[in-house]
Amino acid sequence: MDAIDDANQLRETPKNEVISFFESTPLLKDAAEIEKSLKEFVDRNTSSSGNLNGKANRVVCIASGGTTVPLEKQCVRYIDNFSSGHRGAASTEYFLKAGYSVVFLYRRGSCQPFCSSLPDDPLLECFSVADDSSIEALFVDALHVETVKRAITENRAAWIITDSLFSSYFFVLNAVAEGILLKLPFTTIFEYLQILQLISVSLRDVGPSAIFFLAAAVSDFYIPWESMALHKIQSASGPLDIRLAQVPKMLSVLRNEWAPMAFHISFKVGDHLVLFDMSLSAMDVKDSFVRKYIIWFHDYNNNIETDTDILLAKATMALKKYKMHMVIANELSTRKEEVIVVTEQEKVTVRRDCTRAGAEVESPLVELVVDRHSTYIKKFDA
Ligand code: PMT
Repeated sequence: MDAIDDANQLRETPKNEVISFFESTPLLKDAAEIEKSLKEFVDRNTSSSGNLNGKANRVVCIASGGTTVPLEKQCVRYIDNFSSGHRGAASTEYFLKAGYSVVFLYRRGSCQPFCSSLPDDPLLECFSVADDSSIEALFVDALHVETVKRAITENRAAWIITDSLFSSYFFVLNAVAEGILLKLPFTTIFEYLQILQLISVSLRDVGPSAIFFLAAAVSDFYIPWESMALHKIQSASGPLDIRLAQVPKMLSVLRNEWAPMAFHISFKVGDHLVLFDMSLSAMDVKDSFVRKYIIWFHDYNNNIETDTDILLAKATMALKKYKMHMVIANELSTRKEEVIVVTEQEKVTVRRDCTRAGAEVESPLVELVVDRHSTYIKKFDA
C-alpha cells in the first residue's frame, strides 16, 4: 500500500470513532459560556493592530495536566493520568513573555502559571486587582472575608502578603484582567475533548498564527457514558470487572478538520519498558503504516535500543501519522532537564541552563517553538 492509501486509512477510521465518542458524551454544562469567552478572547487578540500582548495576532492553546476517567456517573472513583501540569504552566509564562496570547486549558488543581512556587491555597482566590491595578490596592472580596479572617488567625495571611512571589500571582491576575490569558479548567476526558474542540473551532480563523501545544496527558481508555454505573460501584459484589473503550486519538481530527491551518505540537512521553511492550501489543499490526514502522523500529534498534532511541522512534511515528509540525519527546524522569524536539527536518535536544539557578527547560523550548512558528507563518505571507 502506498503513502496516499496509508493516509486515507488513517483519516477515515478515527472520524467514525470521534462522532460516536461525542454522541455518547455528557454535554458540557457551561459550553455557551466558554464559547462566549473564547469569542471575546479571539476578537480582542486578533484585531488589525495585533494582539493585546504585542505579537501580531499570535495565539497559543496550551493543554496541561492529566484527564480523569470516571467509573461512575455520580463519580466517586476515577482513573487518573499522571501530570503535575508544570510543563503547561511554565510554558504559558514563556509564551506570554514572548508576546503571545494564551488559552490555558488545564486540569483543575494542577500547576498554574506564575504560581508554581506558591502553595495551593484557596486564600489566593480571595484577591483581585483593583481599578488602578496597583499591588497595594488589592482588596479582599466581601464574600471571602471569612476565609481571610480565618487565614489571619491561622497565621497564613502574613505569608501571602510579605512573600515576594505574590507579585507573580499579581502578574497572572493582570494577564487575565488584560485579556491576554484565558484559563479554562477541565477534570474528565469528556470535558477536556469537548473544550479542546470549542477552542480549535474558535481559533480556526486565526489560521497559521495559532499554535496548539498539547502537553496534557490524555486518557487512552474510558468507560462510555451509556455503560457507566450510575452510583458508587458496590464492593459487596466481589472483584470488579470493567471493560474500557479506546478514546479516539483526536490529534488527526484536530489537525485535519478542527484547525487545519494552525501550527500543531504534540508530546510523546517515554518510559522505556512500558513503551517497548505497548509498541508491540497495543498497535494494530494489520495497519500497513504501523507495520512498516514496527519493522523499521526493530531494524533501527538492532539490539542497541536505548530509552532515547525508542522514544524518538515513537515521536517520529507520531509526527508522520498525525502530520504534526513538531513532536516534543520527553522522558518522565528527565523531563525537567531536557526534551528533544522532532520535526521533519531536525531533531534538536533542548536543555535547561544548569548554570542559572531556577532556569527551566521551557524557556529555551518556547524560544525554539516561537522561532519555528515564525518560519511557518512566513510561508503563508509569501
Ligand atoms: O505535567 P508535567 O508533570 O510537567 O509532565 C509533562 C508531561 C510529561 C505530561 C508532558 O511533557 C507530556 O509528555 N505530555 C503528553 C503525555 C501523553 O499523554 O502522551 P500520549 O502518548 O498519551 O499522547 C500523545 C499526544 O496525543 C499528546 O500530545 C496528547 O495530548 C494527544 N492525545 C492523546 C490521546 C488522545 N485521545 N488524544 C490526543 O490528542
